[in-house]
Amino acid sequence: MCGIVGGVAERNISNILIEGLKRLEYRGYDSAGLALINQGQVLRERRVGKVANLEQAVLASQVSGSLGIAHTRWATHGKPTEENAHPHISGNVAVVHNGIIENYQELKDDLEALGYVFTSQTDTEVVAHLINDALKTTPSLLEATRQVVPQLKGAYALGIVHTDHPDELITVREGSPLVIGVGIGENFISSDQLALLPITNRFIYLEEGDIARLTRNSIEVFIDGQLIDRPVKELDATVSNASKGEYKHYMLKEIYEQPEAIKQTISQALNGNALREDFLASAIQDFANIQQVQIIACGTSYHAGMIAKYWFEQLIDLPCQVEIASEFRYRSPVIVNNTLYVCISQSGETADTLAALRDTQKRAAAKSLNITTMTICNVATSSMVRETNHSLLTLAGPEIGVASTKAFTTQLAALMLLVLKIGQIKQTISDTQIAEIVAELWHTPKVILDTLQNDKEILRLSELFVEKQHCLFLGRGTHFPIALEGALKLKEISYIHAEGYAAGELKHGPLALVDNDMPVVILAPQDDMLDKLKSNMEEVQARGGELFVFADENSGIKAKDRQHVVYVPSVNAILAPIVYSVPVQLLSYHVAVLRGTDVDQPRNLAKSVTVE
Ligand code: G6P
Repeated sequence: MCGIVGGVAERNISNILIEGLKRLEYRGYDSAGLALINQGQVLRERRVGKVANLEQAVLASQVSGSLGIAHTRWATHGKPTEENAHPHISGNVAVVHNGIIENYQELKDDLEALGYVFTSQTDTEVVAHLINDALKTTPSLLEATRQVVPQLKGAYALGIVHTDHPDELITVREGSPLVIGVGIGENFISSDQLALLPITNRFIYLEEGDIARLTRNSIEVFIDGQLIDRPVKELDATVSNASKGEYKHYMLKEIYEQPEAIKQTISQALNGNALREDFLASAIQDFANIQQVQIIACGTSYHAGMIAKYWFEQLIDLPCQVEIASEFRYRSPVIVNNTLYVCISQSGETADTLAALRDTQKRAAAKSLNITTMTICNVATSSMVRETNHSLLTLAGPEIGVASTKAFTTQLAALMLLVLKIGQIKQTISDTQIAEIVAELWHTPKVILDTLQNDKEILRLSELFVEKQHCLFLGRGTHFPIALEGALKLKEISYIHAEGYAAGELKHGPLALVDNDMPVVILAPQDDMLDKLKSNMEEVQARGGELFVFADENSGIKAKDRQHVVYVPSVNAILAPIVYSVPVQLLSYHVAVLRGTDVDQPRNLAKSVTVE
């Protein structure tokens, strides 16, 4: 999704802006641009496609300046063309924008009536013209921005510069993430702190409604016109965490980082084979009161939630519902007293999940209902973490590949910790059972390491997918969501149409699709459903389908004609979905590489979906 970088310094910042944009590439975009203020002029370069194209243009034109804004655009209003790329200029003002201005058409009509000429189809251009217009009544860029903001409806983050204000960068956060990177004699903004990590590890996280004015030596944050103190936080994430290292793609690196990421995530909660007393200690009273759980999430995080539903109900007897946030937020769901609302989100900024959370909180407050909210998230400073009562962090480190891998498996580990904690508080699970599951949880990183040994074999099998147009993934129980996740991974990065199904549903539709040309991926851990799953495999084989089975080494499933088997090391059935995520990730990865797609930044997709 769109990214913003901006800065005010004494040195030329064109390189910093370009490097920053490169670090935002993983979020997904289709064009990029920057504007620098230099000697009373706005110098702008914009290009369609990769940031590298923009970089070339900047190198060729040698544009430079110590004040500037830059942007990667993910088209919403108007095609990905140079004219629609940001920054947008009106008079001497240049603007970059993330999010959507919902009432832009009305504003555009008014501005056109005033004689403003639009050069793009974007919603953003209205902001540039409005600020330009407001500057007729005030010389202050900050004041002009303040006048414009109340006119804008929607969710947005803005970066604004003006030729007459060579030491001033104005920024606004209203529904889209924005951080200020605090430097020494220079200050920066970005929609994602990752962009600024090579320059600073000190950040101010703006809150909704904040307007900030940055100069080289000062940062002022205002809310409702009042100056406010926002704390500077120091981050310990290192730059190297966000580089590919020896791996060909971030996605592969992140797949291989899973054992360590899971270890990190569980270590924060465990003491030997027991839960630490201080783990989620502040939530104990709230957890004691809850009578059900409602999980809200999108994409891969939603699949993690689906698995947690099995765990909540089977292990600790607590009713659990899971829903896609984009549906939940619009269907006026009944908000029920004593419910724990859990947002699962690697970014903590996904627009639909955030909106569903806020709406739930508002409606619960209006009815004086007693609910508890919590976030499972990979970004400690995200909006969701800040806006929920409790949070549990997945300590996966930055995930750059658009297709989520280590964020997903650490979400599962975190969800299991949450289930055990709530069960312990409610006494619906014994300490012995907790100790058994925790011992298995500790063992999971090793099982994943062993599973990764199958990489070459999976690569070999992936060659059989390259020419396929369609694929089915089947699983039962907690492996039904893994089937959905496997299908999502394959379609996201290889562009092969794939569907995930509960294997028991095969006869109710998807079996009609099975023929010689249909690869069917089966997830076959050693669990109570194995025999039933074997019958489903027979059904596929009888129709000529080709089976690709990820099977427990003790499952008794053997390779035969049109049945390929990759053995997964034996793992406790409850935790098996964490492990079986890995072979489906590797399969999708290798198929995508063989098909020559842009694995880390698949077409049309974004890492952090901050607009609806
Ligand atoms: C995008 C990403 C997915 C992610 C989903 C939800 O679609 O490409 O990888 O699962 O958003 O994002 P979240 O940050 O809320 O987990």
